[in-house]
Amino acid sequence: MDDIESWFRKGLDHIWLPYAQMKTQPDPAPISSTEGARLNMADGTTLIDGVGSWWTSVHGYNHPALLKAAHEQLETMPHIMLGGLAHEQAYRLASRLSQVTPGDLCRTFFTESGSVAVEVAMKVAVQYAMNRTGARRTRFVSFKGGYHGDTFATMSVCDPEEGMHSLFAGVVPEQYVVDLPDTDDRAAALDRLLSGHDDIAAVIVEPLIQGAGGMHMHSPETLKALREVCDRHGVLLIFDEIFTGFGRTGEIFAADRAGVTPDILCLGKALTGGVTPLAATIASRKVYDAFHTDSPEYALMHGPTFTGHAIGCAVANAGLDLFENEPRLEQVRAIERQLLDELAPLSSQPGVADVRICGAVAAVEFEKDFNVNAARSWFIERGTFIRPLGTVVYLTPAYVIEAADLSSLTNAVSEFAESRVV
Ligand SMILES: Cc1ncc(COP(=O)(O)O)c(C=O)c1O
Repeated sequence: MDDIESWFRKGLDHIWLPYAQMKTQPDPAPISSTEGARLNMADGTTLIDGVGSWWTSVHGYNHPALLKAAHEQLETMPHIMLGGLAHEQAYRLASRLSQVTPGDLCRTFFTESGSVAVEVAMKVAVQYAMNRTGARRTRFVSFKGGYHGDTFATMSVCDPEEGMHSLFAGVVPEQYVVDLPDTDDRAAALDRLLSGHDDIAAVIVEPLIQGAGGMHMHSPETLKALREVCDRHGVLLIFDEIFTGFGRTGEIFAADRAGVTPDILCLGKALTGGVTPLAATIASRKVYDAFHTDSPEYALMHGPTFTGHAIGCAVANAGLDLFENEPRLEQVRAIERQLLDELAPLSSQPGVADVRICGAVAAVEFEKDFNVNAARSWFIERGTFIRPLGTVVYLTPAYVIEAADLSSLTNAVSEFAESRVV
């Protein structure tokens, strides 16, 4: 306990935590170690993790193959800049990503966070139009309920009201934030929008599941409709698979489930299994070709210090090996079946507005607001780490979670639902 006092209590007076009203939020749970789908608290108790560290930890914590890759890279060459120098891990990872991603997605630009990967995608989309025709297409179409990051450009394509950034309306660039084309009327409205505006560079969507906006799900047909309408109007399509990528929906990419290839794909989070920060923006051949000329002005002028971080890329390569050698997608499908068995019945529970399940994601939406901070503490008291988003209690466990541990999570959610009966 002395040890906790030395770093936790003291540090609480100095750290500025994410998405937190520092004055009123309950103290976070101090964790001393992790393993599989479990968080070991500094006081000796264990929490079953329903979140997977913001959806990154798909192989479970401390997977030996990922740790080995990190150690070996650390000892050989922690990192070198990609400007003028080259290292094997980034180059191998770029080649492998072009193999595993759909269609002709073939050029990867590496960054350190999902938000910056989306920023790069937006910048590429704007410059693509400039390079090709000189046109100034500077605006984006995005969707209500969407979330794409917390930096300024990415805030502009988040849902302006439901997102966390309503304070910044009028500060961030104004975009066209519309309904997903999941009905004929909405598809027609999107078609009219694209035909009536020649300032649109791209449409950006989280395919199949809008994660941070509350785990809202749509069908593969919606994505096919998006591909079709973008093609018709010569507008790029960006899939932000930072949450859905690497198996979360039951296929390696949500794009595969829909049989749709975007023009630009953003990946992050599970790319490194949560071990190190790394994100990727992958362009199709058509997009990349607009930059690949003899003229320096056509180059992409972007270069974060840690682009292609060697340890991150080594871990990501080891993560791709795990997808090849361990039964991750089968595990996701087994999780989906168990979530359906154990949580779908909650849809008839009074007070529950909706239950949504897709791959290794379950969301139980409640009719009425509840105190999210109190709910978080309630789950911790029951040996689980579950972090509701607004009125939505969700599970996004590691794909390696034991069935019994998953049942502990679903039992906690069911018990929570029963306790909310009004
Ligand atoms: C779909 C999506 N895009 C972008 C981001 C931003 O990623 P990061 O938090 O790594 O900047 C997130 C993070 O939750 C996300 O879910």
